[in-house]
Amino acid sequence: MSETSRAIVKTVAGQPTSDGAGVKLNRVIGTQALPDLDPFLMLDEFRSNNAGDYIAGFPDHPHRGFETVTYMLAGRMRHGDNQGNTGLLRPGSVQWMTAGRGIVHSEMPEQEDGLMWGFQLWVNLPARDKMTAPAYQDIDPERIPQVRPAEGVTIRVLAGDAGGATGPVAAPATQPLYLDIALADGARHEQAVPPGHNGFVYVFEGKARIGETVLPRGSLGVLGPGESVTAAAQGGDTRLILVAGHPLGEPVVKYGPFVMNSEQEIHQAIADFQAGRF
Ligand code: CO
Repeated sequence: MSETSRAIVKTVAGQPTSDGAGVKLNRVIGTQALPDLDPFLMLDEFRSNNAGDYIAGFPDHPHRGFETVTYMLAGRMRHGDNQGNTGLLRPGSVQWMTAGRGIVHSEMPEQEDGLMWGFQLWVNLPARDKMTAPAYQDIDPERIPQVRPAEGVTIRVLAGDAGGATGPVAAPATQPLYLDIALADGARHEQAVPPGHNGFVYVFEGKARIGETVLPRGSLGVLGPGESVTAAAQGGDTRLILVAGHPLGEPVVKYGPFVMNSEQEIHQAIADFQAGRF
């Protein structure tokens, strides 16, 4: 391991909760244990074989001031918004939505049974971009590079650089790295992470070792300082997401689906939404 390898400085387990019209999910960032990790405001994992846990979906709701990123592992959801965008989220696809000054959207299951599994990450926007025009990047699975830098290591590059590939997502303010890393039993991978970025690892299959820390499925490890992170499969195959981004260092005032820099801007967001200005 190199001297500049990042260690895990904090470990948190997700908390069961529900959101939307009653979708059951596991919240990992955005809890008391980890309210945020600048620039990341929330991370949810939804994973269920039971349609009753997801069938009600996420009907029309607003956002302002940040970006929502949905990464699907299994199942199908239909996105629609008041800017005229529609999209089908299917296994392996990513939807990167910039709410900016305001968007109203829905995400509804397009299946009545079977596994629904994926992540939603909220990425903050800096003050200068919070009122930017809304935007929507719907990225098909085929557009996400998959690299095999070593035996037993498979990486899907959603954003940032890994194994000589660059992910398709553009988010200039936070320059995110978002990787889905699969490690076969006994495999390990050292990944460069920009030194100024905050980041985390979340294990969603098996167990992974990062330095001295073993992370079981469903746990998140916050990365300490350094230039790279080394993950190793522990006792079987494992799969994790590695996510990092440039911190904004600005005040964060959250109120439900609105994330701004001040209480005044939150009051304005509520007034604008209620007046139909999104
Ligand atoms: Co939403």
